[in-house]
Amino acid sequence: MNYERAKTYLAQRGQEQLLSYYDELPEAERQLLLNQIENLNFSIVNNINKKENGKRGKIQPAGNAVSVEEIRRRRVQFETVGLNLLSENKVGAVLLAGGQGSRLGYSGPKGTFNMGLTKELSIFELQMNNIKKITETTGRHFPLFIMTSYNNNEETVKFFKDRNFFGYPRDRIHFYIQDVAPTCDYNGKIFLDEKSRVSIAPNGNGGWYSSLINSGLGRVLDRNNIEWLNVYSVDNVLQQICDPAFIGATVIKQCRCGAKVVKKVSPEEKVGVLCTEDGKPTIIEYYEMPENLKNKTKKGELVYRYGVTLNYLFNVRDLNSTLGGKLPYHLAEKAIAHMENGVRVTPDKPCGYKFETLVVDMVKLMGSCLAYEVEREREFAPVKNAIGNDSVETARELLRLNGIEL
Ligand code: UTP
Repeated sequence: MNYERAKTYLAQRGQEQLLSYYDELPEAERQLLLNQIENLNFSIVNNINKKENGKRGKIQPAGNAVSVEEIRRRRVQFETVGLNLLSENKVGAVLLAGGQGSRLGYSGPKGTFNMGLTKELSIFELQMNNIKKITETTGRHFPLFIMTSYNNNEETVKFFKDRNFFGYPRDRIHFYIQDVAPTCDYNGKIFLDEKSRVSIAPNGNGGWYSSLINSGLGRVLDRNNIEWLNVYSVDNVLQQICDPAFIGATVIKQCRCGAKVVKKVSPEEKVGVLCTEDGKPTIIEYYEMPENLKNKTKKGELVYRYGVTLNYLFNVRDLNSTLGGKLPYHLAEKAIAHMENGVRVTPDKPCGYKFETLVVDMVKLMGSCLAYEVEREREFAPVKNAIGNDSVETARELLRLNGIEL
């Protein structure tokens, strides 16, 4: 795309501001900017006009949950099915590590954060140690896909490389960079991050599957006949990955996906709740849950009690047939650094939007989802904040409780 074409192209989309500093740029940077404009998905910003109407269908509790008690009783049955699939190499895992981790206030990739006190024990290492427990049982190393973002990929790959991939076979680990979306102001004008660079951000954790396919890694799924993918977040230091009983239960219950859930500690706890909406699985964020449902109890227990932990199992065939890559974009109001009157400003208050797709929307599209209840103290230690709830301190406490030396 040359300058003249870019000018017309942007004028048609009301985004001429992206060429504001073109005349000042050296030739190489001009070309980079034009390339970026050519490859940008401009239609994403139209989402600022699509206000979510907030209307919901009929909400009911997740119907088909397996409780901790049921899992205890049927563990051998569930595990046998899961272990068979793992031994046949039909399962892979996807680590979501493309987030910006802004709440933690740590500059490196979140997985490199050191949870250790007397030694180095990164979040990545803790999760890889949990994987080792499974691969030692099955004698097989499942393919591990690691989704990074354009701004943390290099550091993440280097971290793994410097630590010899934590003993995992190099050829079974596949890094890929998640797709991006432009950011814009409240009027839908796309920001410039630098004079020669359009402002972009990772397109939300729902981008994991389309980004995996776009990166060409679908061939690894095909070559290995992978039937199930266990998707998990980087910020739970007790994350149990490719848990055979979870896989087996999802298969036995004939669900297209499964979600590891924990009992909410209180109606106010800030986790999304797995329930159904017009008979289809859905996850209602804590701030969207109507008061009467949030507080409803039966026999002393919360009716809407299953909080999601961002550990899901998806059937690959169903992902391909139901998604077709189309997920809604949600608007996230953020403080976004951008160019203003020739200067780069870093606001401390929100000034525009980032656009994010969410894993929870994939669950809706799948049509059925098993709520698989796990013991919070054993499997859920989120590291979201620097201090307070779901922080480094609370997670360290839970690691100690599980006998992990820090
Ligand atoms: P969060 O929703 O906590 O977002 O991510 P975040 O960006 O990591 O953290 P904050 O909100 O800025 O503090 C939940 C999981 O989804 C991944 C994260 O890496 C984490 O594992 N994620 C999130 C992505 O992989 N890509 C994204 O675009 C967003």
